[in-house]
Amino acid sequence: MTNELVLIGGSSNPELNQKIADELGVKLASVKIDKFGDTERYFRALESVRDKDVYVIQSTCPPVNDNLMELLIMLDALKRASAKKITVVMPYMGYSRQERMATPREPISTSLVARLIQMAGANHVVLCDIHAAPTRGFFTIPTEHVDPVPIFAEEFKKLGVKDFVVVSPDAGAMRKNKALADRLGADFAVMLKRRNLKARDIVADTMVVGDVEGKNVVIIDDSISAAGTLCASIPALKKSGAKDIYFMATHPILIGKSIENIQKTPLTGVFVGDTIPLTPEKRIPQIKSVSFSKVFAGVIKRLHEGESVNGYLDSL
Ligand code: R5P
Repeated sequence: MTNELVLIGGSSNPELNQKIADELGVKLASVKIDKFGDTERYFRALESVRDKDVYVIQSTCPPVNDNLMELLIMLDALKRASAKKITVVMPYMGYSRQERMATPREPISTSLVARLIQMAGANHVVLCDIHAAPTRGFFTIPTEHVDPVPIFAEEFKKLGVKDFVVVSPDAGAMRKNKALADRLGADFAVMLKRRNLKARDIVADTMVVGDVEGKNVVIIDDSISAAGTLCASIPALKKSGAKDIYFMATHPILIGKSIENIQKTPLTGVFVGDTIPLTPEKRIPQIKSVSFSKVFAGVIKRLHEGESVNGYLDSL
């Protein structure tokens, strides 16, 4: 049976690996992932992958460089072990926010990472809520893209919130927020965000363009990193008369004092995807985790069975 699906989980997000395996009704392949004393990573597939259709799940989330390197050596091992096709399922892609040269003599790290993944052995890549659309073009192999809007829209509907407006936290997230507004049949507003050029994690100021007075607000963003965007948006929206505010983000990077700052912010709820694990100190009552596992499993199933992935994603 060469058409067998082999699912391999990297060590970055074991909970998501297991959930995807459960959705697919398959077992995660037996592998050994280890760390040498000098911090180098080690990988070995403990079962044959010869001529198999292999799916490797790995978020290159913090520790970004370790998780990226682990992914690269997994690919190298699987290619050398004669896998027929290797698909990388990357729920979160580290370095995806360095997709352009903002000032001279900078790298385009996203492009470099894409080339490394491809060179190491990937034949196909599944991305999710990627920071910038051109990222798919950095690969010359097929890519799929999981859109978070249908997933978060379903989650938001469950809350039964009435009289709300969807607000984009910045220009970059406008398309996604407009799609959410259209899906939920809601009004749409936008915020103009300016970052501090010397300290990019800090949002210098933000202002609301549109009417949020007396309305509830829902925002969708690709990530919460230092929570600068979140912590600057909420007071500005409150000042403009917003009532309850819900913040949804696919990738909970949550660095530095983000958790402390979220706890101090007058929010009604924060919803995050499980593309990056929530370590115990990040599991606070304000943050609810929304699983993307069903959709990743759906994509893997269509890829394996040679069916339309976009047809599936459009049906969500
Ligand atoms: C644009 O800046 C991005 O879409 C996100 O808004 C950003 O990555 C979130 O980062 P932070 O939480 O540090 O503002």
